[in-house]
Amino acid sequence: MKVLVIGSGAREHALCRSLSLDPDVTALHCAPGNAGIAEVAELHQVDALDGTAVAALATELGAELVVVGPEAPLVAGVADAVREAGIPVFGPSEEAAQLEGSKAFAKDVMAGAGVPTARSYVCTTPEEAAEALDAFGAPYVVKDDGLAAGKGVVVTGDLEAAKEHAAACERVVIEEFLDGPEVSLFAITDGVTVLPLQPAQDFKRALDGDEGPNTGGMGAYSPLPWAEPKLVEEVLESVLQPTVDEMRRRGTPFSGLLYAGLAITSRGVRVIEFNARFGDPETQVVLARLKSPLAGILLASATGTLAHLEPLRWSAEAAVTVVIASHNYPDTPRTGDTVTGLDEVAAQDAPHAYVLHAGTRFDGDAVVSAGGRVLSVTASGEDLTEARERAYRAVSRIRLDGSQHRTDIAAKAAADASRRS
Ligand code: AMP
Ligand code: GLY
Repeated sequence: MKVLVIGSGAREHALCRSLSLDPDVTALHCAPGNAGIAEVAELHQVDALDGTAVAALATELGAELVVVGPEAPLVAGVADAVREAGIPVFGPSEEAAQLEGSKAFAKDVMAGAGVPTARSYVCTTPEEAAEALDAFGAPYVVKDDGLAAGKGVVVTGDLEAAKEHAAACERVVIEEFLDGPEVSLFAITDGVTVLPLQPAQDFKRALDGDEGPNTGGMGAYSPLPWAEPKLVEEVLESVLQPTVDEMRRRGTPFSGLLYAGLAITSRGVRVIEFNARFGDPETQVVLARLKSPLAGILLASATGTLAHLEPLRWSAEAAVTVVIASHNYPDTPRTGDTVTGLDEVAAQDAPHAYVLHAGTRFDGDAVVSAGGRVLSVTASGEDLTEARERAYRAVSRIRLDGSQHRTDIAAKAAADASRRS
């Protein structure tokens, strides 16, 4: 199978890495890709938001499957353009991607599907916003309705800051604060059948101890030793399947990856948000544990044949990923700094630990930073403690001027798990 992956982050590197290990994949292409993806896939230049250009590239390459990684192209209708060109595509239509593209739309679908989520109001004026903030009280949760690359949500105890964020957005969703640990659960779907993957936890704040600003995600781990064994089954029944059924009922079937961001509250599981694509950095740890070949799974989603797929096989090992970010991320990240130490990781830590690239590019022979999140250092181990040790050992070999990373990814879960065993 000839596969074309669209995107350029660590998520796409993880997807390409798994696809490159799949014996069914005969050719692997990525556009636009990055310096790390270049090692496993042939790179092509394309404007990822231009559906016509992506479809033309896929046709020219004879791609038999196109995998659209990020949300922006999905919301821009890139999957539709590829599908119209007659090529199977993993990723939802423009209409179905509104599940991520509009928080208000997602709330409406959840209401229709009876999916548990935070109570909320959609507000378009400062007066409406003030009223909603008053109704819920602190801590305040204010969400920009549209796509904001992980930066549209403000959670604060400060009423003025909450009002300010609401005023800065055209339309906001103001909602009840959800207390409790967060879980990311992904499901592959073809619009009818829903196949949940293994749960992961993401670390959204920039600094250790969950301090600092929200980011796209600074690290992740899987499995979650503290979670109820029936969590996945429960979320499949109460969230994932009803949402997929509701989307089909509305005439906008959702195929591709449905990402449920969940809060495990004292009153049960609640949806914090939906995304219409694989999460980054959670994908890095979920795919590290997936033993079934990936291409056939994605193709079955694209062609509506998931019901015939064999059950997924998972490694019993744990996986941890640590993001290395640029100086000044998430504000105005500095780029163009040289990354070294990658060869040392390849020589000394592989195959248990490896580096996935996010914002990198080649400058001559050198790898330089080209974005906020630069690398996602991923490792597997017998348990979270071993996976953590391996990930951080690899992190310590990498040098990037001014870079930052969290030192506490999976620390609490690893400590709790070893105390219990
Ligand atoms: P989102 O972009 O919706 O995932 O929000 C980003 C982050 O804000 C989430 O991962 C949560 O940590 C936090 N957040 C969002 N909604 C809520 C909520 N209703 N209650 C508490 N925290 C929230
Ligand atoms: N890790 C959060 C996201 O992918 O949206």
